[in-house]
Amino acid sequence: MLLPAEVVRQRVAELAEEIDRHYGWRDVLVVVVLKGAFVLAADLIRSLRAPVEIEFVRLESYGDAMFSSRQVRLTSEIGRSVEGRRVLIVEDIIDTGWSLAFLTGYLADRGASDVKICALLDKPARREVTLEPDFVGFVIPDVFVVGYGIDYAESYRGLPDVCVMTESE
Ligand code: IMP
Ligand code: MG
Repeated sequence: MLLPAEVVRQRVAELAEEIDRHYGWRDVLVVVVLKGAFVLAADLIRSLRAPVEIEFVRLESYGDAMFSSRQVRLTSEIGRSVEGRRVLIVEDIIDTGWSLAFLTGYLADRGASDVKICALLDKPARREVTLEPDFVGFVIPDVFVVGYGIDYAESYRGLPDVCVMTESE
């Protein structure tokens, strides 16, 4: 086990405080990257004071294999305008950075006034594009993890802890 549920819970509460300090009481549009970030988003928004609205996107760039391709596209659109909105992207893991580089560009192109990134986990050793997340739960080494919403081939999302997956499992 890498991060027990209780450690995650405490850190997510701290993240919510950091995010609240940043936004104050200003409204924010939370854009949740499905599927992996749904557990984090559910915990996070219930700790935020800032008034939030929620949208979901799905990005395609990552199959069942333990590698990331560089082609990213939206497979489900945001159902409304983001023009002039403060947007907080909520993501499970930043790995190469390609997914969020694409999504931040996409939101900026559509007129978001500000785009910030909150990720539960960051693997900076794997970064292939320049991307500085604004709110990060844990910086982790280059290991493949599952649990707390994060999958391997669609399994293990319901584990309460974040666990390291080895290829022999
Ligand atoms: P990036 O575009 O390489 O930054 O890919 C980020 C996405 O890859 C995340 O949203 C996850 O869906 C997936 N990913 C990266 N590392 C892991 C991992 O350790 N476990 C499960 N999914 C991962
Ligand atoms: Mg993901």
